[in-house]
Parts: sequence; C-alpha cells; structure tokens
Amino acid sequence: MLLDERFCEGHRQGLKKGDKFMPYTRYASGNRAGFGIAILVLGALTGLQAQAASPRQTAAQITFAKHVAPILQEKCQACHQPNSIAPMSLLTFKDAKRFAPLIKAKVAARVMPPWHIDRTVGIKEFKNDAGLTDEQIDAVVAWVEGGAPLGDPDDLPPPVEFPDPNRWQLADQFGEPDLIVQSEPFTLEAYTQDKWFRPIVETGLSEPRWVRAIEIKPSYPHGRRIVHHALAFLEQGESGVTNLASVAEERGVMGAGLFMEWAVGKVGEIFPPDAGKLMLPGSKIRWEVHMHAVGEEVVDDVVELGVYFYPKGFVPKNRTVLKFFDARGPSGLDIPPGEIAVTQEFHVLPAPARLENFQPHMHMRGKQMSMEAIYPDGRQELLSSSNNFQWNWHVNYIYADHVAPLLPQGTTLVITAWHDNTAQNPNNPDPEQWVGWGDRTVDEMAHAWVDVTYLEQEDFDREVAKRKASASEK
Ligand code: HEC
Repeated sequence: MLLDERFCEGHRQGLKKGDKFMPYTRYASGNRAGFGIAILVLGALTGLQAQAASPRQTAAQITFAKHVAPILQEKCQACHQPNSIAPMSLLTFKDAKRFAPLIKAKVAARVMPPWHIDRTVGIKEFKNDAGLTDEQIDAVVAWVEGGAPLGDPDDLPPPVEFPDPNRWQLADQFGEPDLIVQSEPFTLEAYTQDKWFRPIVETGLSEPRWVRAIEIKPSYPHGRRIVHHALAFLEQGESGVTNLASVAEERGVMGAGLFMEWAVGKVGEIFPPDAGKLMLPGSKIRWEVHMHAVGEEVVDDVVELGVYFYPKGFVPKNRTVLKFFDARGPSGLDIPPGEIAVTQEFHVLPAPARLENFQPHMHMRGKQMSMEAIYPDGRQELLSSSNNFQWNWHVNYIYADHVAPLLPQGTTLVITAWHDNTAQNPNNPDPEQWVGWGDRTVDEMAHAWVDVTYLEQEDFDREVAKRKASASEK
C-alpha cells in the first residue's frame, strides 16, 4: 500500500528477490552504473577521426593498433570507460580483446553503438549521429575474424582525454545550465514493482525567458540505474503570450505542455537558432519519473532538469512544441502472443511546420517505427525509420538544420509501429502473453516524440525557396 499520493505503482511482474534483473552487471568491477542509460557523449568525440579500413583490405591486415583503436576512441569509449554508463571498459587492447566476439556480434547487428535508425532511407543527416559507417563495421568484424591481433604498437593512437561523463553534457556547447530544477527526493526499495513519481516543483523564475536547450539528468550512479524515463511538464498560465505561427494558434495547438521527455538513451534537446520554448514567471515543473527496481535500495534520489536560456531580451522568431504522435491505432494496442502486430495513426498538420527530430517510443516488444509524410498533393515520402529499435535505448534522432523536413499545412504524418511478440525477439520477456497498452515496460506503447516548429506561411515559403536554391547549386 502506498501512502504517498505522489507515487503510483505497477502490478504483477515486478522485480522479486532472486530475479535476475539486468544482464550487464555481470562484469561488475566497481563500474556498475547504467540501467541501460546512455548519453550521446558527442562533445567528447568531435575532432577525432577514425581511420576506416577499405573493404578490399583482408582480415589479416586489420589490426587493433591501426584500425580498431581509433574507431573505439571515436565511437565507443565515451561510454565504455570506468565510471561511465556501459558495463565494461574498452579503453585498452586487453579490454577489447577480451570482449572481441561480443563486440563483433553487437557491432555487426548495429546494436552498438546505439544508433538504430535505417541509414538507407529517408533523412540521412543528423546533428547527433553516433553510428558507424559500413567501412567501420567491416573493419571491426574483420579484426575479430582475423583473430583480433594487436599489430604494431607504434601504430596505437595516443589515449583520448574524456571529460567527466557525469557532467551536464550540453554545457560543452552552452556553458553550465542557467536554471536547474530538481525533482523532490525519492526512495526506491530494492525489490518492488515499477513506480511512477509525480511531484510538482516551482521553477522560481521571475521573468519570461526563452529556452534554447534543455537537458534532463538522473543522478549518478544510482538514478541512472533505476530511472527508465522522466517527463517534465511545464505548467504555466499562457495568457496570450504564445508566439506560435498564427495558423497553428488559431487552431489551438498552442500551450506549453510537455517540456521535455527523457528516457534511457537520450540526453537533451537543442532548438534551432530561430526557435525555442518559452518559460513564464511562476511556472512549475510537473515531473513524472518512471522507476524500475534493481535489487539495491536507492535512497533520496533526485532527477535534475537543466535549462539553457537565450540571452535576456532575445526572442526567437518561432516557438517549438513537443508533440506526442500516437501510433497505437484506433483500437489501441492489441498484440497477440507469438505474433508481429502493426499499428498506424495519421496526424494532419494544422499549419506549415518544420520537424526537428524523430524519437520513437516503444517498450520490450518494439521492433520498428517509421514516420512518413503524405503531402497535400498526394505525394508520399518516408522521413525516417528506426528499423532496429532497442527498447532500452531511446535515441533522439535530431535532423541537421538543412534537411529537417519542411511540411506544408495539411500534410498528414503517418506513424507506423511494429511490435514483435514472437520468441524470435531476444528482448521479449514472454512470447506467450497477450500484450496491450500500459505504463510498465512489459506493457507496450507506440508513439513518436517530435519537436514541431510551426512557421508563418511567408517564413515557410522562404525556407523552402532557400532549400531549393542550395539544392540547385550542388
Ligand atoms: C552511448 C553510450 C555507448 C556507446 C557510444 C557505446 N556503448 Fe556499448 N554499451 C553501452 C551500454 C549502456 C551497454 C549495456 C546496455 C546494452 O547492452 O544496451 C552497452 C553494451 C555493449 C556490449 C554488450 C555487453 C554485454 O554484456 O552484452 C558491447 C559488446 C558493446 N556495448 C560494445 C560497444 C562498441 C564496440 C561500441 C562502439 C563501436 C559501443 N559499445 C558504443 C553504452 C554505449
């Protein structure tokens, strides 16, 4: 029985004593952080260039020192180092050699590094691309198949100095957050059902400010192990201050609503230079923190929201709103045991818009999610498809500015979700269960989180013309 009304809890299928909860505490060597968390520690990676092997190179020529070490430095070590979020370090040859077969398996399956979008379709340029190229994958696989040799130690690149993996990640770009809002402290027992904690906290803001970036950070190390996702809803009186493109405003799509969703695999949101979110004096954050027990009590933990403002007085032209685009379909999710279910929903854009990102959300049976546009003239375009979805990695695919989709008013967005409830899905806890929509990770969900910037018609036309002009220059 829960006495604190800010909590609610799941039923059935909670963690019981003796359950094996997470596979990756098995290399525990003082480095047990990480409930599959992940942060795209990209700031740390910029500037490093991995030297890819050409496909013609034979396995025997691929060595750790020359080919693989630079790839690990560029794409793996930010997470795979002591005290970061991955279960084992990959800093040295010895580390990598020990895990060589597992590395080959995860890399060839495109599960690691966590970047699970289909690179062959839709929009191909992202602000936070963390994936490997085909050449890098071939090099890693050939190295393992060739016996994982060290090669000439003189070829080894100097070790990389990584910044603190538990810092505010976006501070590399914007300096420390201007405002930090903490949830109230919560305690999670060692063995219990999933819990949802919903405290409401004042932001303490005394004047309106425009937000250029937001980051949510569970505490380290405990919060990272127990927090599955955290939602921060911005609650404030809007009283006419909307700055949404006028058509969207007329049709009632304004409002602050959800500020940011954080789930394992995601770090933050950055808005393009002409857009932002507005926070008003007296605003509050309503938290929803979904926690999952891991066999150890966690006491008085907090989740933090870091807000990066535009300079005082700067007003971006457009206001971005985080939209929840459902894909569960008219009859809700109905996923029979042993089957693959496909559901789909349609969302008509009330005003011209630019989509900033694509972030699919499903649970353990989630297999694939796609986002398509049907233009008012009937033309259809696949924008993105995460065809290798991994439920414990909620990667936010942020479109590069020059390719972020510009969609006219009346465009229909089609979100399609595939759930695999067969025994072939390695993440499926029980293929004999019927599964429906629900909060717990053993239930399912199907939606995409998309930051939508509604544009005035003339701004939209100008953006489209700019794209056309730069396309014809190429
Ligand atoms: C964003 C952080 C991050 C990056 C980048 C990353 N990993 Fe991981 N890796 C993790 C975490 C966390 C886990 C454990 C959870 C999981 O398996 O999803 C993991 C798991 C693994 C595993 C499986 C371990 C096991 O016991 O099953 C392998 C192998 C692996 N990573 C290799 C790599 C390689 C190789 C790269 C780079 C090409 C890489 N990872 C990049 C965070 C990361």
